[in-house]
Order: sequence, then C-alpha cells, then structure tokens
Amino acid sequence: MDVALVTGASSGIGLAIAARLVESGYNVYGYARDHGKTSYRHARYKPVECDVTDTRVLLDRTEDLLKETGGLKVLVNNAGVGFFGPHATMAPGRIETMVRTNLIAPMVLTRATLRHLEASRGYVVNIASTAALNPGPFGAAYGATKAGLHQFGQALFSEVRKSGVRVVTLYPDMTRTPFYDGADFEPGEEPGTHITPECVADAVAQAVDQREGTVITQIVIRPQRTQVVRKGKPRREKD
Ligand SMILES: NC(=O)c1ccc[n+]([C@@H]2O[C@H](COP(=O)([O-])OP(=O)(O)OC[C@H]3O[C@@H](n4cnc5c(N)ncnc54)[C@H](OP(=O)(O)O)[C@@H]3O)[C@@H](O)[C@H]2O)c1
Repeated sequence: MDVALVTGASSGIGLAIAARLVESGYNVYGYARDHGKTSYRHARYKPVECDVTDTRVLLDRTEDLLKETGGLKVLVNNAGVGFFGPHATMAPGRIETMVRTNLIAPMVLTRATLRHLEASRGYVVNIASTAALNPGPFGAAYGATKAGLHQFGQALFSEVRKSGVRVVTLYPDMTRTPFYDGADFEPGEEPGTHITPECVADAVAQAVDQREGTVITQIVIRPQRTQVVRKGKPRREKD
C-alpha cells in the first residue's frame, strides 16, 4: 500500500489532505506538534508528534518512518504559519518561525525523502499560497517564504523530472481555517468569498492521481469573490 506523509496534519488544509489521501487508499502519516486539536482517527492514519522547525527531530522522525514503511509515494509539505502586519513592527522571532516552518522544513524534509520518492516515482506536493504570486502589504515576510517555496518547487522539478518524481505546487487563496485565529482579519463567511480545506485536498488528490508521464506542476485556487473581513470592522472587497 502506498504511503503518504503530510506535515501540519492536525488542522485545516493538512488535516483535510490527510483524510482525503486516506480515502484514496494511502497509509498516511501526519506530522504536527499537537494532534489533540482534532478527533480525526482512521486505521490507515498515524499521527506523529513532530515540530518541523526542529531539524534534528524532523530528520529522526522521518528516518523512523522510512524504516517502518520502507518507502514513500507522496510527501505533502503543508505545515505553515503566518504573521501579518507592518514589517517595521514584525517581531524578529516571528520572521524566523515563518522561514523555518514554511521554507526550511520543506526543503530539509524533501532532501530527507527524495531518494525514496525517486524509487517510487512519487510526488512532492508543496502548499504555497497566492501570496507567492501576488505580493502585497502587511505580509512581506510570509509572502517571501511562500515565494521561496514556489521557486524551490519549480527548480526541484527541473532537477528531478528525469528520475520520475513529480513536483506539484498549490497556491490557495484565502481558505477558512484556524490559520487566521491570531490575525486581525479573516476570509469572508459567505461560500463565494473563501475556499475550503476540502477544495484544496481534492486538488491534491487529483494531482497525485495522474498517469505516469503527466505532471500537474501548479494549481492556483481562488474563491469566486475575495473578501477580507477585518475582525470587528465592516467587510471590504479585497480586489
Ligand atoms: N488558510 C489560508 O488562507 C491559506 C492560504 C494559502 C496557503 N495556506 C497555507 O496552507 C498551510 C496550512 O494552513 P492552514 O490554513 O491549514 O492553517 P492551520 O489550520 O493553522 O494549520 C497549520 C498546520 O501547520 C502545523 N504546524 C505549524 N507549525 C508547525 C511546526 N512547527 N511543526 C509541525 N507542524 C506545524 C499546525 O500543527 P500544530 O500547531 O499542531 O503543530 C497545523 O496542523 C500553511 O502552509 C499555510 O501557509 C493557507
């Protein structure tokens, strides 16, 4: 049975992807620091406690996983954090946390699993963001981490395509998840103004179900209308 590894599987998009890949028949391993956030359980789903910013822990957990499974078909680099606001007031520790979580961890984890993905002619799936494509104010550092992940995915594909590895980058726009719990804004509530974690998970499931020889390298997912809701203030259209 094929094995998938999803980082940031305790919540939001990662949780939906893990559940969707289980549904597709994978044995799924999910990394996160706190799996107590979700009651999701399945015989083919194994939650693993792992802080992806701790490179030693990330490599040890992954070595154990690969020993246990003997192989890997799909790696989903999804774990991520976002802090927003004027860059002049952004705490340096927050900048570091975003870079470590959103960019360094995916590159290290891809490095640790790439030989196995070559052997299985598997997939690296990176969850970037439309912030990688549309730079805007109050998210310069976050957008930079996602632009870095975008660049990493494009360059990696050009390097490993000959060995059969598929590299897919997703660029979701505002998705309703706990990602915005600490922010002073969030996506709109109406269905036409946000995307759902399940939409992103469906796109991932489709991307990893292509015939050999076809690669969906980039997927941009946007709501029909975009709306940023300032918490405690009236709604305004984003564009
Ligand atoms: N929501 C959006 O609008 C949106 C749009 C575009 C892209 N994205 C991207 O989608 C990804 C998932 O975000 P989400 O919206 O699903 O947010 P979320 O609900 O807050 O989930 C974030 C996940 O990342 C995990 N995580 C964070 N830091 C971690 C660490 N150091 N080690 C291990 N796991 C860690 C969290 O688990 P623990 O806290 O339990 O460790 C959680 O499972 C992120 O990369 C985000 O940038 C989100």
